[in-house]
Amino acid sequence: MIRVLFICLGNICRSPMAEAVFREEVRKRGLAKKIDVDSAGTASYHVGEPPHKGTQAKLREYGITTDGMTARQLWASDFDNFDYLVAMDASNVTNIEQALRKTDAKIFRFLDLTVHQKDVPDPYYTGDFQETYDLVVDGCEALLAKIMHDHPHLLS
Ligand code: 4NP
Repeated sequence: MIRVLFICLGNICRSPMAEAVFREEVRKRGLAKKIDVDSAGTASYHVGEPPHKGTQAKLREYGITTDGMTARQLWASDFDNFDYLVAMDASNVTNIEQALRKTDAKIFRFLDLTVHQKDVPDPYYTGDFQETYDLVVDGCEALLAKIMHDHPHLLS
């Protein structure tokens, strides 16, 4: 099993959006038994809460459910339990490295995999869930390509 953890600050806007979009993509490609997807926040403010209403509504527009998803904080064990720790922005990378006391190639910024090479804008502040969704979709495509590249026999 390949394990992917999306990480943002609160785990209610961006990382749950990435988790749900990526899980749907993995399911569509028939890889659900090979790639496991989760998300977490570096902060504890929203632990136990469902995704932000804006994230829920945007995903619903695209036929993606957030049922059963609740926010959790990043755990020390996540470093060993996941193969890809995918941060939504540069401050998340710093917070992850501090919390886990690790720097490692498996901790990286999501959109560095794409032509955008920037932070995923936080709709908690911008209110623009469409902009975030569009970037998350590009990031998910690039992440799946990276995983296929890193694991050439995944489809066999
Ligand atoms: P997220 O957005 O990191 O994409 O989930 C935020 C959610 C909550 C807060 C900040 C960012 N907050 O300060 O409560």
